[in-house]
Amino acid sequence: MNHFLDIHKTDKTALRSIIDSAIAMKGRRDGRPRAALDDELPLKDRMVALIFEKPSTRTRVSFDVGVRQMGGQTMVLSGSDMQLGHGETIADTARVLSRYVDMIMIRTFDESVLEEMAEFATVPVINGLTDRSHPCQIMADVMTFEEHRGPIAGKKVVWSGDGNNVCASWLHAAGRFGFDFTFTGPVQLDPEMEFVGLARNEGARITIERDPVKAVAGADLIIADTWVSMHDAQSARERRHNMLRPYQVNQALMDAAKPDTLFMHCLPAHREEEVTSEVMDGPNSVIWDEAENRLHAQKAIMRWCLGT
Ligand code: CP
Ligand code: NVA
Repeated sequence: MNHFLDIHKTDKTALRSIIDSAIAMKGRRDGRPRAALDDELPLKDRMVALIFEKPSTRTRVSFDVGVRQMGGQTMVLSGSDMQLGHGETIADTARVLSRYVDMIMIRTFDESVLEEMAEFATVPVINGLTDRSHPCQIMADVMTFEEHRGPIAGKKVVWSGDGNNVCASWLHAAGRFGFDFTFTGPVQLDPEMEFVGLARNEGARITIERDPVKAVAGADLIIADTWVSMHDAQSARERRHNMLRPYQVNQALMDAAKPDTLFMHCLPAHREEEVTSEVMDGPNSVIWDEAENRLHAQKAIMRWCLGT
């Protein structure tokens, strides 16, 4: 069994096979009724616990649908309704859940919760987002890029905005998949330098450029995310907006890149804040494919975790 905790903690060959398997599973859907998907039902008789300590639309629905399409069953649990939220340790929760279910997906705040869950669970644990990373999202994003533009290795990816958890997983992916990654944003919101260093050590070219127009020159992909993440204090909202406004992805910024530069956003988006509707709904935006591919990428991740 394998845990899927982070992209930089997963071996390159496994990451490639997950993307290839996701693309293959998606391809098999063509022209077939939904009930007939994945006829070998690799998760038949398996029970998967989906634990959410933060809100979610895409992660919740795509994991739930993905498990069911592969013949398994799910239990969606909210952290606050469990003893987890009332003092039972993560380790004890992990030991108990492992006696009931075959796999655990958890969305939580502190990364240490995910790590403790993985250390003490005897079934695979999947990271459904922490304050520090969001690997399932970036697996879907790499898949989406490759569907539209072919291999991502050697391409130029630009992140405009807050160097947050989603940005961190992009940095992890830059190292593993071998693409150039440019961060453009205010110095106060730089990504974690540890992750920049990791990606550089793996040979990825990582650039930090304060001027968004310079940053996007020659970009194959521009990415935006919310200016206030779920783990950020609401009291910091105005300060963050003021710092991040120059990094909004609008048509002028897209025009400073290339005519075929793709646009991605993990969603949920705040229209006219980090991105304009003109870009979100424009011809270069692949945001709905990205959202769909959460389903396919996570099905491949779950199969890899269980070895099915
Ligand atoms: N992109 C993403 O993880 O969305 P949700 O918060 O809706 O799950
Ligand atoms: N950075 C965002 C991503 C949401 C999917 C957050 O953590 O709230």
